[in-house]
This record gives sequence, C-alpha cells and structure tokens, in this order.
Amino acid sequence: MRKYRAVIFDLDGVICSTDHYHYLAWKQIADQEQIPFDETINNRLRGVSRMRSLEIILEQADRSYSEEEKQELAEQKNEIYRSLLVKMTSKDVAESMQDLLKQLRSAGVKIAIGSSSRNTKLILRQIGLGDTFDAISDGTDITHSKPHPEVFLIAAKKLGLPAGDCLVVEDAKAGIEAATAGGFDSAGIGEAATASGVTYSLRDIGELSSIVIP
Ligand code: BG6
Ligand code: MG
Repeated sequence: MRKYRAVIFDLDGVICSTDHYHYLAWKQIADQEQIPFDETINNRLRGVSRMRSLEIILEQADRSYSEEEKQELAEQKNEIYRSLLVKMTSKDVAESMQDLLKQLRSAGVKIAIGSSSRNTKLILRQIGLGDTFDAISDGTDITHSKPHPEVFLIAAKKLGLPAGDCLVVEDAKAGIEAATAGGFDSAGIGEAATASGVTYSLRDIGELSSIVIP
C-alpha cells in the first residue's frame, strides 16, 4: 500500500514563483516609507502572512506605525501585487510541475493547495490551474499563518484524510515547521530542503513522483 494518499502543495515558491512580485510590491511600500528593504529581508517573508510580512519590514523603520496605518500599507501593497499578478500565465508553471501534477492525478493521488496567500484563487486562475486541485486551503480559511499548522490541517480536512496520509511540499522553513507541527511528513525544496524536521530534501520537484508513486 502507498504511504501517501494525497500531496498538499504550498503555492508561492512551489507551484509557481511569486517571490519577485512580492518583492517589487513591498519595495515600493518600503521606498515610499523610506524604510530599508532588500532581498535578504524579502526572504524572511516567505510563507508568512501579509500582515506579519509588513511587521517584519517595519522592524527597520525608525518610528512605530498604528494598526490603521498598517492596514492601509498592507492594502496598498496588495493592490500593487495584484496588478503585477496579471502578468502571470500557465508558462509560470514549470514543465516538471505540470508533469508531476498529471502523474499524481492519473495515479489516483489527491492533490491540494495549502497556502497562506489570500490571493491563491486569483493566482491559480492566472496560471491555468483554477480547476486542478481536489482541495484548496488558503489565507482566506485561516486565523493563524505558517508556522502554525492550521492551513495544512484544513487542507487535510477538506480532502477527508488524516495528516498521516498526506505529504506537504514546501519551499519555506516556516512551512516545514507548520507541517511537522500538524503531524505531516514534508518534502522541502530550496531553503526548506535544509529545514530541521524535513522528511525529504529535494533537489528538484521531479524527485517527488518516485517518493509518492514508488
Ligand atoms: C505566502 C508567501 O504564500 O503568502 C508570503 O510566501 C506572503 O510571502 C503570504 O506574505 C501572503 O500572501 P498574500 O497574497 O495574501 O498577500
Ligand atoms: Mg512558499
């Protein structure tokens, strides 16, 4: 019998790359507020919620911001970000990922999304995967962002499967932490491949099919 009946994919950085668009949008906000911001700080925003991302950026500010100001800045960032997302197409999904999704589906393995992003459905539509997944758990479903396990627990619940039957795929250390906390095995790519507690370290997403469909 197979070990995993489902794979829960993180979206940003796993199914497609939105890092640069997040960076451009946050950079515009940081410049406007005259706050230093670079790719190193941007890397710390991977996997965490929009508001938590803003708080990380504001650590570099020389004044404090009210809740109202923070809401406003987060909304502004999202407007800029969404205007950049319209550039995305199915070409933003690597061929190796397209192949993997097809292989899993034809082997009867369920596939789901577990993402902190409140823009998940828009991104999936843009990249032509709006109707591909058996379940979607995203930023609109949760009250706690990764590294809290909520987003993956909701994905498993929507699939009707226990955590032990699902493998989580992540590119963020916060995501591996979330998977472990929820009782899921995990596969990490990029910086997540070296995260503590990761079950499988992947060099390439193509390695996943032999783990799930041996
Ligand atoms: C995650 C990204 O997927 O979504 C984070 O890795 C981002 O960088 C978070 O902050 C929230 O995204 P959104 O689209 O709701 O602003
Ligand atoms: Mg990610």
